[in-house]
Amino acid sequence: MDPFQQILKSTLARTESVPQTSTPPTPPEAERVPWAATVTAEDFLALAKARRTIYTLGKDLPVAEETVIDTIKGAIRQAPSAFNSQSSRALILLGKEHDRFWGLVREQLRKVIPAESFHATSDKLDGFTAAAGSVLFFEDQEVVTALQRQYIAYADNFPVWSEQSSGIAQYAVWLALAEKSIGANLQHYNPLIDQDVRETWNIPPSWKLRAEMNFGSIITPADEKTWIDDDRRFIVAR
Ligand SMILES: Cc1cc2nc3c(=O)[nH]c(=O)nc-3n(C[C@H](O)[C@H](O)[C@H](O)COP(=O)(O)O)c2cc1C
Repeated sequence: MDPFQQILKSTLARTESVPQTSTPPTPPEAERVPWAATVTAEDFLALAKARRTIYTLGKDLPVAEETVIDTIKGAIRQAPSAFNSQSSRALILLGKEHDRFWGLVREQLRKVIPAESFHATSDKLDGFTAAAGSVLFFEDQEVVTALQRQYIAYADNFPVWSEQSSGIAQYAVWLALAEKSIGANLQHYNPLIDQDVRETWNIPPSWKLRAEMNFGSIITPADEKTWIDDDRRFIVAR
């Protein structure tokens, strides 16, 4: 097994594998209070650490496509949104449709990048095409404008909250895919590709494209990552 996947699997070991002495038994489904988590915060942080930007991806997904689709839908469905407006939308592309998407990106970029420097872009796009699928994240502007009309006092906030909701949905999908040992990276070729995407997949006019996530089997793990000092990021007062 790839070392990355080994670390991921060992750090994500479920509570069932922890000796009974250190963890109380999980109550049966019916006895669980609605908010009781079935994984620990430590499990979550291990997953958060395992989620990385991975560029070298392949088409051999470690789980069935149906599982990937359900995972993506579940992550977006459970993501929070302002006033529970559920403004996030997604186009999930697999197989030939994924390849077709990156072909559209390539043709649009070819129009704006000088031919003599296009080879670097082309190599990058070859890498994205080599992955198994893409999730295109949209925000439904019909939802945003309806909220603006309904809650005039918050009108300026709704577009901001919609963007925040999209970021949360993107992160949720990224994490959920990482748990399935599926690598991903996040790209932003919008708005260059908006019209092509709309026409090719019959996307409603109110859906605004915000980000494109490329995913697949992990061929090469992510590089080492560094962090700035906590002192610069956090203030704790008590
Ligand atoms: C809002 C946002 C926008 C990003 N845009 C891009 C992008 O357009 N292209 C890209 O290759 N990576 C993009 N990234 C990935 C970041 O470069 C990456 O998350 C960061 O370097 C930290 O690395 P990690 O994801 O491995 O933790 C984006 C990430 C975020 C959160």
